Amino acid sequence: MSARNTDIEKAAGVLRAGGLVAFPTETVYGLGANAEDPAAVTRIFETKGRPPSHPLIVHLGSVEQLADWVEEVPETARLLAEHFWPGPLTLVLRRGRRVPLEATGGLETVAVRVPDHPVALALLSAFGGGVTAPSANRFGSVSPTTADHVRAELGESVDFVLDGGPCAVGVESTIVDATGEELSVLRPGGVTREELEAVVGRPLAVPATSRVRVPGQHPSHYAPRARVVLVEPEKVIAEAEAAQELGHRVGVFLPAAFAGAPVAAHAVVAVPGAMDEYARELYGFLRELDQRGCDLIVASLPEERGLGLAIANRLRRAAGPRTVPSASAPSAAAGVPTGSAASVVPTASSLQEG
Ligand code: TXA
Ligand code: MG
Repeated sequence: MSARNTDIEKAAGVLRAGGLVAFPTETVYGLGANAEDPAAVTRIFETKGRPPSHPLIVHLGSVEQLADWVEEVPETARLLAEHFWPGPLTLVLRRGRRVPLEATGGLETVAVRVPDHPVALALLSAFGGGVTAPSANRFGSVSPTTADHVRAELGESVDFVLDGGPCAVGVESTIVDATGEELSVLRPGGVTREELEAVVGRPLAVPATSRVRVPGQHPSHYAPRARVVLVEPEKVIAEAEAAQELGHRVGVFLPAAFAGAPVAAHAVVAVPGAMDEYARELYGFLRELDQRGCDLIVASLPEERGLGLAIANRLRRAAGPRTVPSASAPSAAAGVPTGSAASVVPTASSLQEG
């Protein structure tokens, strides 16, 4: 924990005064406001350029506070909260009266979590109330995993940035709809489906990671400036080199199985074989390839179990509708060789991110 006590006190004061504080969590940096101050909550949406209908997560300092923020705590929700908090799990429950509709995008449910980061917990404890916070990035772009990412992207529009070093998990929390006894995973994240199933003792539905429903209907999210193309791991090098030949500045996510192989491309990042390490580095890699001037990123999906599920979800969303390949209309017309990309179809889920 690198933020000093004086910084924590100052940040809590900014929240009390209706300001915005960017703070570290174990997943990504959040852009926080007093959850009970509608004007401050509205500023979050303005600062991110996020549509006001997209609900936010209320961050709390302890499991004990949960009952104050929701109408009821079903048995299974309590079990999950007690097992995983503090940690990268967000529970969607019925909204308590304390939560303004501005924070929930008008919904009668509210998303709540207790983050597992000493700086976040110190801030929440000093402030005392709930802090609504989306990821501290512009709407649709890549989430920040360092304080420098936040400063580079939001700069002066944030009143105070707490620096807690790089985030340990690196992808956002897992969101579980726990309003009823039938749970479903709305967004895969830092807590794996396997871990959840072990605690509840039965399989969970994961609708958000299913295959494409209506391609092209949703904007891409978690997206770098460069266009992202997904291909099978063994086709990454050939696809990258072909695009580079066509004049693209290609960034490559080189799968661990091909570590050290030479690639004739503009920039190469070596994908870690361990999924926890990959999750931690994922957004940094996307930012790095943008910074190095790549206009196209060629990547493949990891195996979709454990943290690989969340990583694949974010890569699909980064690839977004911009690169949805279709057998009848390959996007080669746009100068991007996606012949082999057609083998991996990005998912455009109904969940709106930001
Ligand atoms: O790890 C995280 O969850 C990070 C850190 C900062 O806590 N936060 C984060 O927030 O990723 P954001 O706003 O970028 O994503 C929140 C997601 C959105 O997809 C939103 O639609 C969903 O939570 N969400 C919030 N309230 C909801 C609700 N009542 N019902 C369904 N989904 C909800
Ligand atoms: Mg976000």
